[in-house]
Parts: sequence; structure tokens; C-alpha cells
Amino acid sequence: MILETQKLAKSFGGLTAVHDVNLHIQEGELVSIIGPNGAGKTTLFNLLTGHISVDSGRVIFKEKDITQLPPHAISRMGIGRSFQRLNIFPRLSAFENIQVAVFSQQRKSRNIFARASKLARHETEAILESVGLLDKKNVTGGLLAHGDQKRLEMGIALAVEPSLLLLDEPTQGMSPKESGELTQLIQKLVRERGLTLIFVEHDMNVVFGISDSIIVLHQGKILFEGKPDKVRKNEEVQRVYLGDERGTWSSLLRK
Ligand SMILES: Nc1ncnc2c1ncn2[C@@H]1O[C@H](COP(=O)(O)OP(=O)(O)OP(=O)(O)O)[C@@H](O)[C@H]1O
Ligand SMILES: [Mg+2]
Repeated sequence: MILETQKLAKSFGGLTAVHDVNLHIQEGELVSIIGPNGAGKTTLFNLLTGHISVDSGRVIFKEKDITQLPPHAISRMGIGRSFQRLNIFPRLSAFENIQVAVFSQQRKSRNIFARASKLARHETEAILESVGLLDKKNVTGGLLAHGDQKRLEMGIALAVEPSLLLLDEPTQGMSPKESGELTQLIQKLVRERGLTLIFVEHDMNVVFGISDSIIVLHQGKILFEGKPDKVRKNEEVQRVYLGDERGTWSSLLRK
């Protein structure tokens, strides 16, 4: 098991955003977390990466307790993440965005080769290539198309050489075509780099298309978890989502 949480909990004032969540993530798994707006998905990610403090419970990554560690220590241990809101430098080129992330990782890990590879050109270009942005490396981040900005963000997350990658709504705001392409890219990255991936996603085509298992979060609690087919057929999940006629939930869950 690469990641485990034990009774992880977080409240904001009177609101319990994450309620005694127990995760058991196996190495190499591709896991999605789904749930309505406000279910606690982003808060759960923030607890895993140290961006907000835990009220109670524990986070265990590769058999080490990381519950109290700050974000930079957690990323150094091999957990990379992308954010729900875009988190790139809009004035830097695609190349520079990745280069900054590679530099900061090299400094953090006190890599003895850091001086020799001052420009980190090789590492930076390898990452740009793997997220499909090598031909746009000189384009300013803020001028890239939305889909390419999301790819760039994924590249920044890869700069920490993660073994566990957390993506918060990677296809948000994308056209179906862009989202299909990104989904393929995610699968390729997971396979090529032997990553474990946990991603939050509202697009059910993506969720049911690539997940090994799905965790359904509802009001801060795990309502159900299992393989896509089991989730689709589960009555409680259907009850929670069939009311939501807006999204792609209803049609997919009824299939
Ligand atoms: N810093 C905060 N202070 C107060 N309340 C917060 C804070 N962060 C989140 N919340 C609340 O906690 C609950 C869970 O929020 P969270 O952002 O984790 O949901 P989510 O599942 O990611 O939703 P979405 O699908 O809209 O991104 C919501 O009711 C939200 O308003
Ligand atoms: Mg969220």
C-alpha cells in the first residue's frame, strides 16, 4: 500500500468537511474521487499534501507518518499535485515554468549534480515532451490555450519526480476533444512512469473510462468505493446523484 489514511478529519467552524476518511491506495492504482460540489474532495487533497492542518487522524505514505509535515517536505518525499485553480506563472514561458519547478526540486533534494545541470535543460525538456508541450516550449504560459495550461500544470507536478500524483479536476473547462486527449496522456504517464494516481473529476466519461477504482465522497464521508461497475450499480450512489440532472452523472449512472 502506497498511501493510507486513518480516520482523517477536518472541520471549518461548525462544518465537517472531511469526516473520518480511511483511504487504502495500492501502488500503481488509478483512483478517482467523485462527489458533488462541497463534498470535501479538495479539502481531502489539502490534508494529504500538508496544505491545511489535520484536526485528527493520520496520513501514512510509504509506511511513514506524514500527517504533520509541511507541503515542501511532502512533495520532496514524492507526492506531486496539481490544483483545482490554475497555478502556473503566466508571464514565464512553458519552458521556464517547468524549469523553475525542476530547480526548486533540485535545491530541495540537495542534489549533488544540481550545479552541473545548472540549466536543467534536459530534465525540463523531457517533462515538456511527456506532457506534449515540447513544440510550445517558448510560448508564454498565460497565452497557452486552456487545455495546454492544464498540461503545463501537470508538468510542474511531475518536476518533483512523484511516485504519487494528485490531480484536482485535470479536465476542468476543457472541450470533449481536449479532455479525451488529456485522459490518454494521463494513462500514458501513469504507465510510463509507474505512477500511482488519485484524481478528482466531475466528467463521468473520464472517471468511468480510466479508473481502476472509484471513491464516492458525500458530505465529507466515503459513501461507497469500488470498481467502476459496482459504483455504477450502487443504489446509494444513484440516490445521491440521480437528483443531479445537470451533469453527466445521471445518464452515465443509469446505463
Ligand atoms: N478554508 C475553508 N474555510 C471554510 N470552509 C471551507 C474551506 N475550504 C473548504 N470549505 C468548505 O468545506 C466544504 C468542502 O469543500 P471542498 O472544497 O473540499 O469541496 P469539493 O468537494 O472540492 O467541491 P468542488 O467539487 O466544488 O471543488 C465546503 O462546504 C466548503 O465550503
Ligand atoms: Mg474541489
